[in-house]
Amino acid sequence: METTNFDELSFGQIISDHMFVAEYKDGEWQDLRIEPYGPLQINPANATLHYGQSVFEGLKAYRNEAGEILVFRGDANQRRLNESAQRMCIPEVPEEIFMEGMRKLLEVDKDWIPKQAGCSLYIRPFIFAADDYLGIRPSNNYKFMILTSPVGNYYSKPVAVKVETQYARAVEGGTGAAKAAGNYAGSLFPARKAQKEGYDQLLWTDGKTHQYIEESGTMNVMFVIDGTLITAPISTGTILKGITRDSVLILAKEMGMPVEERFLTVSELEDALLSGRLEEAFGTGTAATVAFIRLINIHNKDYVLPEKAAGAFSDRVLKRLDDIKYGKVADDHGWIMKI
Ligand code: COI
Repeated sequence: METTNFDELSFGQIISDHMFVAEYKDGEWQDLRIEPYGPLQINPANATLHYGQSVFEGLKAYRNEAGEILVFRGDANQRRLNESAQRMCIPEVPEEIFMEGMRKLLEVDKDWIPKQAGCSLYIRPFIFAADDYLGIRPSNNYKFMILTSPVGNYYSKPVAVKVETQYARAVEGGTGAAKAAGNYAGSLFPARKAQKEGYDQLLWTDGKTHQYIEESGTMNVMFVIDGTLITAPISTGTILKGITRDSVLILAKEMGMPVEERFLTVSELEDALLSGRLEEAFGTGTAATVAFIRLINIHNKDYVLPEKAAGAFSDRVLKRLDDIKYGKVADDHGWIMKI
């Protein structure tokens, strides 16, 4: 920790000193422990290495002005981890194992929680198959682990995104709603192509028609068109049930913002850009928080978004969220867990 520069934190490069580990054996989670962070011994026949039976979560711990540790919506992450686990045929982790494991880990590594404004301790729970077996079937053994990592913003400046209409991230009936490792692996090749063309991320469209905007892979996406906040619904099972997404929608309604959870077509987005009716576009996610979008490429044409107006919704909702996460305002929603 002595060598860590907390004033220049990027995302995910530094891992704190300890990790929580639990083993699933003989039909139950056992051997719960905190260990020094370090390598695992894994056999080359490990099922995760071959078939990717693995799910993860991302949440954050913050420090308030009194120095107390606050975790934002950990219960929602715990539930979503188990929803992902169920889809990938992985045994669920009981709430008390998740919560107590996280609490103990944060107590041990509390000095890793940055005090710097805008920074936090990213918490990464994950479960993976631990059988050594080359056949295809759900593993009998698993590991549940939690790592933490002091972080700054995932995106340090507003992002340029490209609407993807060739490759698909998810289809109805697939695994798109799960935070499954393979979803991210499958997105790397199309995203790298876009990055080589100068874009930061993709805007995924539906896997069948490529007409409807879905999400961005590292974050859900939202648009303000004619004063209304629009974001894709989660009902198709092709979009991650973002916890920041949910929080922004709740706050938007409280802030008197008209909200529509509906699919926006690519042509509707292009029309809104051409006619100047697109006021704001941004991503929402634990890592990304609220990430402003500065440019959208549609069918190989770049559209630069207008400068954000004073009092833009995305600025206001980001501030409101941060005020809640850092304990600067009352937690009216029961979103904060004090460690
Ligand atoms: C998160 O926001 O926690 C995520 O999982 C995004 C990740 C791909 C960095």
